[in-house]
Amino acid sequence: MVLENAISLLGSAWTDYQRLVREALHSDIKLLDNLNESLLRSSGKQLRPLLSLLMAGALGGISEDSAKYAAAAEILHNATLLHDDVVDGADTRRGKPTLASTLGPSPAVLVGDFWLSAMVRLVIGTAHRDEAIKLYSSTLSHLAEGEMLQMEKAAAGDTTEEDYYTIIYDKTASLFEVSCLTGALSAGADGRLYEAAGSIGRALGIAFQIRDDILDYGDPSGLGKPVGQDLAERKITLPLLGALKGCDEEARIRGMVADIDSHPEYCGEIAGFVLSRGGVEYAARALEEQINCTLDALTSLPESPFRDALGGIARYLVVR
Ligand code: IPE
Ligand code: IPE
Ligand code: MG
Ligand code: MG
Repeated sequence: MVLENAISLLGSAWTDYQRLVREALHSDIKLLDNLNESLLRSSGKQLRPLLSLLMAGALGGISEDSAKYAAAAEILHNATLLHDDVVDGADTRRGKPTLASTLGPSPAVLVGDFWLSAMVRLVIGTAHRDEAIKLYSSTLSHLAEGEMLQMEKAAAGDTTEEDYYTIIYDKTASLFEVSCLTGALSAGADGRLYEAAGSIGRALGIAFQIRDDILDYGDPSGLGKPVGQDLAERKITLPLLGALKGCDEEARIRGMVADIDSHPEYCGEIAGFVLSRGGVEYAARALEEQINCTLDALTSLPESPFRDALGGIARYLVVR
């Protein structure tokens, strides 16, 4: 409901954004065009374009460029998911089989590449193209670095809380940040307001990933997210880090995570350890802090229905 209300507040800007996505992904190669269309038919929550457009609205006005940046954000997000599902060997995404699992990793990588190029084309066609390209290329580096650091840490089994925050900024929050920053750019914001847009995007992105990592330890909300994926991939996320705090069994538990490939039955024991030691509550407190930080930063924006909608989304992230 929160997301639907925000979309209706955006009115024609939202339909412009959707049209730009479809146009940007058109290809004369039938196979590619068909795959793009089928991916678009099962689109996700479209949170990043929503934030981008709301930020533009909150900072003085949605322009044609705002819709282009919103389309670029969603297209980049989907490209990274296509690649992420190859990296993770994931069978399903949004409740459907992944492209990587039905057609194989090669087409999934190539379709992802095509989507990346579509994102660049959209950004190049905007008035603030130089600044936006700088922002997007930095985000692209962060996204790849985040996935690589996550891999390195999963193999070494030594993720610290600092590593965790670096990983989630890189792989998730950097995209939320660029979505908000380009929204602000398209509205002509600069200085303090532009900075605030970046902080809001960052905090929302970190909060979003913490919530995602909490849901991996049990999904009572019926979102249908598979549970226990992270441990199966040897990812040490905030709930486990919280449970390990002050625990004299840290070395043993980390050893079990490292051996999970050959002992899948360890998953249950580790999850039990996390739940009994308050790891989920620990992560929930960190999530709350990020949301408070967002709500705080929002007060520096001028009052508007767009600003209120951003606040509504921040609160929604805690319970989604
Ligand atoms: C999934 O993001 C990837 C993460 C950062 C956890 P979303 O949950 O926003 O994905 P869709 O687009 O709505 O499916
Ligand atoms: C976050 O990684 C997604 C990207 C930044 C591409 P995950 O591997 O945790 O995301 P899900 O769970 O597959 O959506
Ligand atoms: Mg994944
Ligand atoms: Mg991944």
